[in-house]
Amino acid sequence: MRKLFISLLFAVLPLAMMADEGMWIPMLLQKNEADMQKAGMRITAKDIYDINHACLKDAVILFNQGCTGEFVSDQGLFLTNHHCGYYYITSNSTVEHDYLTHGFWAMSREQEIPCRGLTATRLVRMEDVTAQVLEGVTDQMSEKDRAAIISKNIERISAKAVEGSHYKAVIKPFYYGNQYFMYINEVFTDVRLVGAPPSNIGKFGGDTDNWIWPRHTGDFSMFRVYCSPDGKPAAFSSDNVPYKPLKHLTVSLKGLNEDDFTFVFGYPGSTQRYVTSDAMRISAIEVNPIRIALRDIRLKYYKDAMEQSPAQRLKYASKVASIANGWKKWQGETLGIERLQGVAKKEAYERQFQRWANDKPEYRDVLPRLHQAYATLHPITIERTYFDEAVRSSDLMQRAGLMYTLLYGATSDSAKHAWAGNFAKQQDKYFSDFDKHGPIDKGIFVDTYILMWKAGYAPYLGKEESAVRKKLVTAFDKSILTNKDRLVKLLSDYTPKQGKKLENDPAVALFSEAYSYVYHKDNKLQIHDSIAYHVVPALMRTYVKGIMEKDPDVNYFPDANLTLRVAYGAVKGFKPKDATYYVPYSTLAGIMEKENPDIYDYVVEPRLKELYRTKDYGRYADRNGDMPVCFLTTCHTTGGNSGSPVLNADGQLVGVNFDRCWEGTMSDLLFDPNYCRNICLDIRYCLFIIDKFAGARHLVDEMTIVQ
Ligand code: ARG
Ligand code: GLU
Repeated sequence: MRKLFISLLFAVLPLAMMADEGMWIPMLLQKNEADMQKAGMRITAKDIYDINHACLKDAVILFNQGCTGEFVSDQGLFLTNHHCGYYYITSNSTVEHDYLTHGFWAMSREQEIPCRGLTATRLVRMEDVTAQVLEGVTDQMSEKDRAAIISKNIERISAKAVEGSHYKAVIKPFYYGNQYFMYINEVFTDVRLVGAPPSNIGKFGGDTDNWIWPRHTGDFSMFRVYCSPDGKPAAFSSDNVPYKPLKHLTVSLKGLNEDDFTFVFGYPGSTQRYVTSDAMRISAIEVNPIRIALRDIRLKYYKDAMEQSPAQRLKYASKVASIANGWKKWQGETLGIERLQGVAKKEAYERQFQRWANDKPEYRDVLPRLHQAYATLHPITIERTYFDEAVRSSDLMQRAGLMYTLLYGATSDSAKHAWAGNFAKQQDKYFSDFDKHGPIDKGIFVDTYILMWKAGYAPYLGKEESAVRKKLVTAFDKSILTNKDRLVKLLSDYTPKQGKKLENDPAVALFSEAYSYVYHKDNKLQIHDSIAYHVVPALMRTYVKGIMEKDPDVNYFPDANLTLRVAYGAVKGFKPKDATYYVPYSTLAGIMEKENPDIYDYVVEPRLKELYRTKDYGRYADRNGDMPVCFLTTCHTTGGNSGSPVLNADGQLVGVNFDRCWEGTMSDLLFDPNYCRNICLDIRYCLFIIDKFAGARHLVDEMTIVQ
């Protein structure tokens, strides 16, 4: 009975769009306008995106190639996340001026710090160029010919579009190549650091709280875009002037209540919404647990070390941060897909699709062929997961991999000599982090390798566990890669003769063996690449076209691809587990609850405590006189949305997006309005920190604020 009910439910919910699901193309937002207005929006789609008038899109920028930012003044001042600005905050810090620890606030324009290499990209306009991109493409041609024509067309169209201007054009495929859009961008290259809170505000909760609600992270930093005196992008120069954006956001101090309409406007990086049941099963149900188990090992070693001393803590903090970020996200993703029975839902939809496709020659074979393609890819994918998370992630094997490239890479002897000499010079730094005699690096290398071997993916190591272990330990102990003096000597004057020595090094030899096994045995590399890069993309193009043709009334959004999108929903709490409800707001009181001077992630600045004690919140307090810190919404976001403006029904800035709750990270594959929440910094806390905490009132005064 229960089973019947479930299958009926699947039958009526086939790949249906869920409430609040979707990352919409700003140019096509008209299609969502009525729905957005019904949900409470008081502005129009044209206020968000319009090529004839300044609009909200002119206030949103792509920060480098992975975060979002938004202008908050007519002087080029913009906000993004602390974790987005992190590199520029740390790389400009010295022991005397430790901006990461103590924060940084430019009290005048002269004090702003130029950030080499940092770009801020504004979208000028976008255009559907599908017809031009596909010109000359026929259904009969091979994928290879098709790709060649498309790339030629793209080159031609984009060059022509920006001819004689300072703009840059980017053309990207949508719906797996069923549609193409061109983005005309203005790329600013003089971007300066203006402000960042101390890390115990900007990264409060650290990796302990990462992906977690309740959250209390003041995850923001501020930068300013400069341009030439005539308003165009220019390389850093003291003659440059603050850029005057066509539009900057109005900041609202009114805050939002639960159920209020809100939207996020930014650059989501990547989602996999249309993949088949096989792809979902492989990635969420099979690959994730393998990655998690292998990372458990690495994290355990680093965390044990970090507990031993503050110096060790510092040494491994950033390694742990990057390992733990994906580790936690994948746990939520797998859990979410299982909870939703995502694979079964996909299968039910595929049965329905197949019934529809049976009498349509174009679509009849697409699912069976995708199924077949994934059957071939499956074992290769699993094997590569082990290789990436075990072999490629131990320091020893990473370096052995570099030596492998040095030995067998196709460059001249003189280029090899130069590269090796250069590499030799970096060894002081590397070895200061390398734990030759202690448990960490050896333990990670041996334990992850053993796990891979036990799963059957390293048969070349032998059959007997004790012998395998011995082989690994010997490789570590005897390798020149774990001996700084010998290594530097060998590389400083690298010749083919030295190369022979390197070839016989036990760690390098082990890497070669592993690499040939995973990539070259049984022609696996060719098989993988032809299926993953040609067969599957072509079939997915057809499948997604079929999905849209089958239900033409559904407004399907295209997967995220680091182009500007609008996601909308409401402020909402959720029920993560039985008998627990998460209220969608956190306040400064929660920071004080978490405070613990002995735990690095939960140290609270004395000044912040003082402001809390005196309740000196000024105009930034909420209705109850509390200081709001973060809030949750149902907007569909992903990596890349970090730093995105969170706006209210009037298009005013109320928050800055910075994370999701881990219980809902399956939203990259399957969205569930009951669990998927993004985490936003409340703009009132941000301004309170700038004004009351840091005393940088002049920055707040630049903004346009409504009370
Ligand atoms: N989870 C967020 C993201 O995916 C934030 C990561 C940075 N913060 C941190 N505590 N490690 O990027
Ligand atoms: N922190 C993520 C980022 O850097 C956003 C969180 C997410 O994946 O949604 O883009």
